[in-house]
Amino acid sequence: MRILLFGSGAREHALALKMLQSKKLEKLYLAQTGAFSNLSEVIEFDDFYDLAKKAKDNKVDLLVVGPELPLAQGICDVFLDFGIKVIGANSNWARLEAQKDFAKDFMKTFGIKTSPYEVVKSLQELEFAIRKFDNPPVIKACGLAAGKGVFIPKTFDEAKKVSLEFLEGKFGVASEKIILEKRLYGRELSVFSLWDGVELKSFKPACDFKKLLDNDLGPNTGGMGACFPCVLTQKQKKELDLYLSKLKNALVISNAEFTGVIYSGLMFCEDDLYVLEYNMRFGDPEIQAVLENLENDLVEIFDKMTKKELKEVDLKFKDTPSYCLVLAQNGYPCSPCTGQEIKNIDSAEEKYGVKVLFAGVKKDDKSFFSSSGRVLNIVKLGRGALDDIYKAAEEIDFLGKIYRKDINLR
Ligand code: GLY
Repeated sequence: MRILLFGSGAREHALALKMLQSKKLEKLYLAQTGAFSNLSEVIEFDDFYDLAKKAKDNKVDLLVVGPELPLAQGICDVFLDFGIKVIGANSNWARLEAQKDFAKDFMKTFGIKTSPYEVVKSLQELEFAIRKFDNPPVIKACGLAAGKGVFIPKTFDEAKKVSLEFLEGKFGVASEKIILEKRLYGRELSVFSLWDGVELKSFKPACDFKKLLDNDLGPNTGGMGACFPCVLTQKQKKELDLYLSKLKNALVISNAEFTGVIYSGLMFCEDDLYVLEYNMRFGDPEIQAVLENLENDLVEIFDKMTKKELKEVDLKFKDTPSYCLVLAQNGYPCSPCTGQEIKNIDSAEEKYGVKVLFAGVKKDDKSFFSSSGRVLNIVKLGRGALDDIYKAAEEIDFLGKIYRKDINLR
């Protein structure tokens, strides 16, 4: 297969490395590359039409999309029009992530358990809706806000103030509509399901370490680390299976005609399972840990999906956990002090047998520099892997390096 991968972060770096292992891969092209562009040929482009045309000229069979924004903007619709297969939702189904009210309606329609909520579009609606909550509700922008559109207020006054900021355009059109949602407490997990229009197959759950600091303190981030698989009780496993069969049923009844990924952001409150959100892509950094563990050929899985033969795929995982640690830049998530030179990546990989993935890295002829808040990922599989990951984290050197010290199985 000739595959074009869209996206430039550590998730896409991991996807690229995994696909490059496949015997079924004839050629990998990269669009929007980050510092891993040395892995394969890059296609430069102006817009999705230009990219699809160039992909067609290069006989690309399949587009694999990493991040959410191009999905919501319709990249898959364009490629399908050009007769190129895709792994990624079309713009209609990308709304499960890009329009939170659409996702809530979907859950309500199919009896999928989610936190009670109110959709709010104006100050008047806000005054009315907020009175329905016994405690300050979580505030969510309905649209895509680059992972920053969720706020957990401590008081009703704060809830009102922040809701107004959202409605008045803090995230542009993405927060013209907001959701107020009852705050839930419990344990979060990320489950990635593959969908080929007929069959739903899910990976075991992964755990994302969302808070900036140890012991789940500090502000929310895009994720500071991940472990795979999560530890679940028998009762929780049963609940999860029940939920996944409901999800499949909902997709079948809705005639969800797309080939891609559904990421269920879930929370166990005691043993009750709630959906916090849907994303239509793999989670970053969770998939980096999952891919270390996955035994299957990823290109073969994608190939089967495009032929609606996902049913034939038996997902297999190694009998040992895998981990991903994020090295971030001080100031993250608000205003990271980027531009710092990064040293010792190669020696960390050599000494400790880890893989280093580029999240926010720019390079010139000789050196690597941090270019966004999450800079590098260190991944490894196996029971002793964490020791090596943390030694590698010490070895890698850049000014203002920060990371959590408590990534472990949960
Ligand atoms: N790690 C959370 C996300 O990918 O949205």
